[in-house]
Amino acid sequence: MILKKLDNLFAEFTKELEGTTPKSLEIVRTKYLGRKSELNDILKSLGAMSLEEKKVTGAAANKTRIEMEQLLAAKENELNKVVDTESVDITAPGRLYPVGHLHPVTQVLNELVGIFESLGYEVADGPEVEDDWHNFEALNMGPEHPARDMQDTFYLTDGNLPRTHTSSVQIRYMENHKPPIKIISVGKVHRNENEDATHSWIFHQVEGLVVGEGVTFADLKGTLDLVAKKILGPDTKTRFRPNFFPYTEPSAEMDATCPQCKGAGCRSCGGTGWLELLGSGMVHPNVLRNMGIDPEKYSGFAFGLGVERIAMIKHNIPDVRYFWHPDTRFLEQF
Ligand code: DAH
Repeated sequence: MILKKLDNLFAEFTKELEGTTPKSLEIVRTKYLGRKSELNDILKSLGAMSLEEKKVTGAAANKTRIEMEQLLAAKENELNKVVDTESVDITAPGRLYPVGHLHPVTQVLNELVGIFESLGYEVADGPEVEDDWHNFEALNMGPEHPARDMQDTFYLTDGNLPRTHTSSVQIRYMENHKPPIKIISVGKVHRNENEDATHSWIFHQVEGLVVGEGVTFADLKGTLDLVAKKILGPDTKTRFRPNFFPYTEPSAEMDATCPQCKGAGCRSCGGTGWLELLGSGMVHPNVLRNMGIDPEKYSGFAFGLGVERIAMIKHNIPDVRYFWHPDTRFLEQF
């Protein structure tokens, strides 16, 4: 009779223990093992039993008590573990979220703008889609001019085109401003290029235009030599090579000593020690005339440089395509 009762008690206990929570664990313990528990009543009643009965019932009651204690301890352990993994460790360091930064081309572009602003240049803007007049004709490149081939590009159905160079902004600015003029313009340009390591069909340029009385080629050289030293390092040397642009006369390309080998010759500069940096020249009298500026009174110089190219030279980047491939392993280096 009592043995049956112990069995029932144990069954009831295990069932109740199963659904217990950290809060109800102590309630279960008191209910089944406490001073007022049924098990305690049974243990207390042992004294009044016969020796035979006491032996059997006592052993069974004690066994039940020990098993209950063991199961309670195991349950307590299990519940503590859950609390550990589910709780928040307020002493743990916070999760770091990666912070982005400006694109390397934007960085170099900003640097260039800063250099020219420090020299007193104003930043002018122009549209990315141009008409033939601003992109070519006003710059002394008539419809049949062979120099147009160098800047073959995409044409829109209305005859306009994504500008092939920022030189168009020279024209836009001179339409509304009289000398003295001292501007740069930055932005995107397009060419019909097959992409390779050094050619991209879309890139950025910085254009410059200075027009005033008595502006000479010496001003051009002094300015661009200083800019090269500021952007590539103070020990940079420059040289000017004669070239042809329809909108300047005379025209020159400027090379700078390779920042990797300082002019000694290495793989980055093809062993020559020099890298081509930009195109430049004295503004062609026809361009000034087109703008209603008297070339007998005023003279000027102009230049255009590729921003990606400068960024590649500055950081020794071998392939222009890296800039626009979305690979953060590349971008994180700058
Ligand atoms: N527009 C030329 C190009 O895209 C660069 C250039 C050369 C700009 C001479 C000028 C200049 O303003 O005077 O290749």
